[in-house]
Amino acid sequence: MTWRANRLDDLPPYLFVEIDRKKREAIAAGRDVIDFGVGDPDQPTPAFIVERMAEAIRRPGNHRYALGTGGIEFRNTVADFFVHRFGVKLDPKTEVVALLGSKEGIGHLPTAVVNPGETVLIPDPGYPVYTGGTIFAGGKCHTMPLRESSGWLPVLSDIPAEVYRSTKLMFLNYPNNPTTACAPLSFFEEAVALARKHNFLIAQDAAYSEVFFDSDHPPPSILQIEGAKGVAIEFHSLSKTFNMTGWRLGFAVGNAEALAALAKVKNNMDSGVFGAVQETGVEALGGIRRPEIISHIGPDGTYRRRRDVLVAGLRQAGWSVTSPQATFYVWASCPGGLDSMTVASRILDKADVVVIPGVGFGQCGEGYVRFALTVDEARTAKAVERIARLKW
Ligand SMILES: Cc1ncc(COP(=O)(O)O)c(C=O)c1O
Repeated sequence: MTWRANRLDDLPPYLFVEIDRKKREAIAAGRDVIDFGVGDPDQPTPAFIVERMAEAIRRPGNHRYALGTGGIEFRNTVADFFVHRFGVKLDPKTEVVALLGSKEGIGHLPTAVVNPGETVLIPDPGYPVYTGGTIFAGGKCHTMPLRESSGWLPVLSDIPAEVYRSTKLMFLNYPNNPTTACAPLSFFEEAVALARKHNFLIAQDAAYSEVFFDSDHPPPSILQIEGAKGVAIEFHSLSKTFNMTGWRLGFAVGNAEALAALAKVKNNMDSGVFGAVQETGVEALGGIRRPEIISHIGPDGTYRRRRDVLVAGLRQAGWSVTSPQATFYVWASCPGGLDSMTVASRILDKADVVVIPGVGFGQCGEGYVRFALTVDEARTAKAVERIARLKW
């Protein structure tokens, strides 16, 4: 007898294990490790949000189960945000669901909408939860390669008609982790048209929609496309926008039937987002234009300055890097035509710098490494100096 279900063996291997082990060894040996690995903001949650929590936590009404799809105040705030940011009207009662972080909703979605054996289209490279959630639901993963030559967008016309015929769900993620690419509205238009033709649901993961550097081109929502609500939902997260990864707050919006199915799964799995955390979400989304937020994620903010230091430094060292327009990552081509595991290991062994090998996000991530811009400018400059000394 084994106390482990067979389905766990179907999950892809966790390829960061080796880098994790080396990182821990280096730190234990007292080496000065500079860590661009995890996509977790290094700055604290802004004070106005923390203050709201300090009040909210004293309210006894918040101490009870927060059952359901989120309090109406939170859902109304999401609907207001969507009108102001994307020009899209949502019905807060049926088209908004609060999540325990967007990861939770993404992970549960296939269980809510995919029958065993049905196909789920998954971007490669991509956020691993799309695959994990699909496997747990008994769905069949079909990867959509993302390549630099097509702007890191899947070539939807390359997917065979018979694959579309068995497809129930397609995951998209723009702005994209790990490639940092943004999708134009024309791409979303093509995806929505295909979903309507072949009858599948699109789940567009917009966890990084608010971290962008070109204020003239804010990343769009797929729900801006006419008819998208018939075939699409979109995931949003407060984690990266407001330095709130530990608080666990996100939301899904869009197609009411798919959201009701997701809510049904959630009702059987969890008991809602802590009411006090929902209140902080109201405060945060209402304050998204405040200087303390813009100075961090905005066009002249902290991440942009770090990006510029890192990109300029890597280029000077002979690396080929596209400067990202959104997300807080830099996706760099491996020097010397080496594979990503070799490059990440060598950078850690010889420069005490942690980066993530692209192959950890899927086979098509091979040949690239990802840096998270969660290290301050001075240490980013120091890391670049160390990397520049390496011979490839
Ligand atoms: C592409 C993508 N989607 C979703 C998430 C999940 O974010 P959270 O669960 O904190 O909202 C992440 C986190 O790293 C991510 O990179």
